[in-house]
Amino acid sequence: MNDKKILFSGVQPTGDLHLGNYLGAFQNWVNLQDKYNCIYSVVDLHAITINYDPEKYQERVLKTVIDLLAMGIDPQKSILFVQSQVPEHTELCWLLNTITPVSELQRMTQFKDKSKQNIANVNMGLFDYPVLQVADILLYKSEFVPVGADQVQHLELTNDILKKFNNKFGEYFSKVETIISKGERIMSLADPSKKMSKSLGENHCLSLRDDPDTIRKKIMSAITDQGPTENGEMSAGVDNLFKMMELLGDEEIVKKFHQDYHQQTLKYSELKIALVEVLINFLKPIQEKILELENNSDEVVKILEQGTEKARAIARVNIREIKEKMGLV
Ligand code: TYM
Repeated sequence: MNDKKILFSGVQPTGDLHLGNYLGAFQNWVNLQDKYNCIYSVVDLHAITINYDPEKYQERVLKTVIDLLAMGIDPQKSILFVQSQVPEHTELCWLLNTITPVSELQRMTQFKDKSKQNIANVNMGLFDYPVLQVADILLYKSEFVPVGADQVQHLELTNDILKKFNNKFGEYFSKVETIISKGERIMSLADPSKKMSKSLGENHCLSLRDDPDTIRKKIMSAITDQGPTENGEMSAGVDNLFKMMELLGDEEIVKKFHQDYHQQTLKYSELKIALVEVLINFLKPIQEKILELENNSDEVVKILEQGTEKARAIARVNIREIKEKMGLV
C-alpha cells in the first residue's frame, strides 16, 4: 500500500443505475481514483432489506458491477467487490450494534421513508441498515466517502459511532469526511419535487442504459413548465436540466443558456434538445463498454475475485485489531 488515504463508497444493486447515481456519486468515484486508495462495493446485503427476487439477484449484482466498470472504475487502480463476499462487514456491523443507541437509528430519515414504502416488510435489517453502512466504511479505516445528499445523515452517524468507539475502546478510527458533488441531488424528470430514484418508476429516471430514443422521449417530456418560483428562482425542473447540462455539457453552451434564461429568451425546448445531444454522446461509449463486458462476463467475475481478495486482506487485519480493542481477542 502507498501513503494515499482510503476512500470507500457503495451502491445497492436495486436496478439499472441512473443519472442521479452518476452525477451524485460515480462521477466522483471515477475522478478520485488517482488521489485516494479507492474501495468500491456493490452492497448486496443492504439491498435485501427490501423486497427482491432471489432468482434474478445474481444477474442484478453482475449488471451493477458491469455498469461501474463501463463508467470508468478501473480495477488496476481501485478495489471493486461485492459486499457479501467479505463476511467481516456483517461481523463489524454486529460489534458496532453494541455501541449504537436505538434512538439514533429511529431518527434516520431513510429508514422512515423506506418503512412507509414497504409497510408489509419493515424488518430488523432495514432498521440496522445504517450500522451496516457504518461498518462498510470503518472496516477499511476509510477517511473519505463520496455520496449524494441523501446519504449525509448516514455519514453523520458514522462519525458519531466512531467517536463512541474511540472514547470507549481507545483511539482507532479517524474522522470520516463526506465528499459531495455539485450533482448531490438530481431530481426526478417527471416530478422534480422528488429526487431521481429507481423506486419512483421508469419515467422518473434516466437510466445509464437508456437508448437514444428513450433519452429523447424522457428529456423532451421532463417537467419544466412551473415558471419561476415565488422568490424568482428557477423552478426545480429547469434547475435540474441546467444542473445536468453544467455537469456534462460544454461550458460555453451552458453560459449561453444561462444568459438566455436571465434575458427571458430561453426556449426550454432548445435547452432540452441540447441536453439530449449531450446525454446521448456521454452515454454512447459507456453503453458500448457495457455490451463488451456483457460478452465477456468471465473477465468481470475474475475482476471481482481479485477485488474480494484485496478487500478481505485489509478487512481481516482491521477486524482483528478492532476485536482486540474490544477485548475479544
Ligand atoms: P444508493 O445505491 O441508493 O445510491 C448510490 C449513490 O448514488 C447517490 N444517489 C444520488 N445522488 C444524487 N441524486 C440522486 N437522485 C441520487 N440517487 C442516488 C447516493 O447518494 C449514493 O451515493 N446507502 C447507500 C449505499 C451504501 C454506502 C455504503 C454508501 C452502503 N454502504 C457505504 C457509502 C458508503 C445507498 O443506498 O446508495
